[in-house]
Amino acid sequence: MALQGRKDEALDDYKFTFEFYLDSSAHIEADDRLKRSQSPDDYDETASLTDSIFEYFNENGRTYHAYHAGSYHFPNDEKEVDRLNNQHEILKILLDNRNYLAPLSASNPPLRILDLATGTGRWAIEMGDEFPRSSVIGTDLSPIQPDLVPPNVRFYVDDANDEWQSGRDWHNIDYIHCRVTIGCWDDMASVIRKGFERLRPGGWMESQEPHCDVHCDDREVPVTHGVKRWWDEMCRASAAAGRPLHITPTIKQMYIDAGFVDVHEKVYKIPMNGWPKVPRLKRLGELWHRNVEEGMSGLSYALFHRVNGMQKEEIEVSLVNVRKDLADQKMHIYEKFYVVWGRKPGDPSDAVSVYSSPRSSHSREVPRNIDTTEDDMMQTG
Ligand SMILES: C[S@@+](CC[C@H](N)C(=O)[O-])C[C@H]1O[C@@H](n2cnc3c(N)ncnc32)[C@H](O)[C@@H]1O
Repeated sequence: MALQGRKDEALDDYKFTFEFYLDSSAHIEADDRLKRSQSPDDYDETASLTDSIFEYFNENGRTYHAYHAGSYHFPNDEKEVDRLNNQHEILKILLDNRNYLAPLSASNPPLRILDLATGTGRWAIEMGDEFPRSSVIGTDLSPIQPDLVPPNVRFYVDDANDEWQSGRDWHNIDYIHCRVTIGCWDDMASVIRKGFERLRPGGWMESQEPHCDVHCDDREVPVTHGVKRWWDEMCRASAAAGRPLHITPTIKQMYIDAGFVDVHEKVYKIPMNGWPKVPRLKRLGELWHRNVEEGMSGLSYALFHRVNGMQKEEIEVSLVNVRKDLADQKMHIYEKFYVVWGRKPGDPSDAVSVYSSPRSSHSREVPRNIDTTEDDMMQTG
């Protein structure tokens, strides 16, 4: 499937497994030759596209989503789209070239797949290719997904904090996925509960989320460390803005509380620069370093401006030390990345048939594929 957007060529040489090295219990050996610092509607009833969703909000030289403007604090412009696409490739490397850890298979495919906060839609498109008989729906506040997608993949502008869409495609779902969505939800537990409700009995839900903190196994990360201070301030500001970032370690419990069974949690380590000795881990660290470095301004601007009242120049000055410490290979810092997945109890045959009902008046759905008609939707799943 040809995709829009740039793919990082540096990712092409990844053909190996990280499974052993990146489990959070594994020790990563540091390369001791390193020195300091290396740079790095329901279809709107009429199925018509609404121009206003493209009228992005401009602030400090970046653009932000128009639908429910102001509720999400990270940008949606080309720079961020490129970063998200690279992040997708890096996370695939981390997960050993897998898009999911839930036990899905070609012999028993998940026929209805929902990707909440799909971003550029890369994950959803790959799932559409992997499971050609499945219907894949991706939702997001921003219509930043490509137009050229597999026929079984559809994208909608929708806010998953609101009541979810009604209708057949939005019930008895086989698999619901969320990735890097901390900062999207006012209450992640409620999103997980909605997921539980919309899954068919026996269906799976999965969250793949970074933890916004820095760790180091061979010495303590000082509270003055630039990256640590940056994450601490980002977590504080995001909590003040009602979109908490610091919640990742509690996701497993949210699954259990929602009623999921067979709940698993796997925690990976992502080196934050090229400090590891093993070449493939070093390369992973270099790629993550570049991704964080490229995203740092965009991730910081809105939260620090809107919550802390800082100006762009002030924010950039505050990031100088963050960039410096991020590049310091003498501190063997890594980030944790959590994957949690759980099953809704029951047997698939217990699924209650849901006839396509009128759309909820609380949510609004705008199809990205102009050719998609309500009839098309009714045929899927
Ligand atoms: C960091 S990106 C991750 C995108 C994608 N899941 C991935 O892993 O590449 C988070 C996405 O969530 C979307 N988003 C934020 N709040 C949302 C909400 N309440 N409902 C739906 N999407 C949301 C943003 O527009 C953004 O595209």
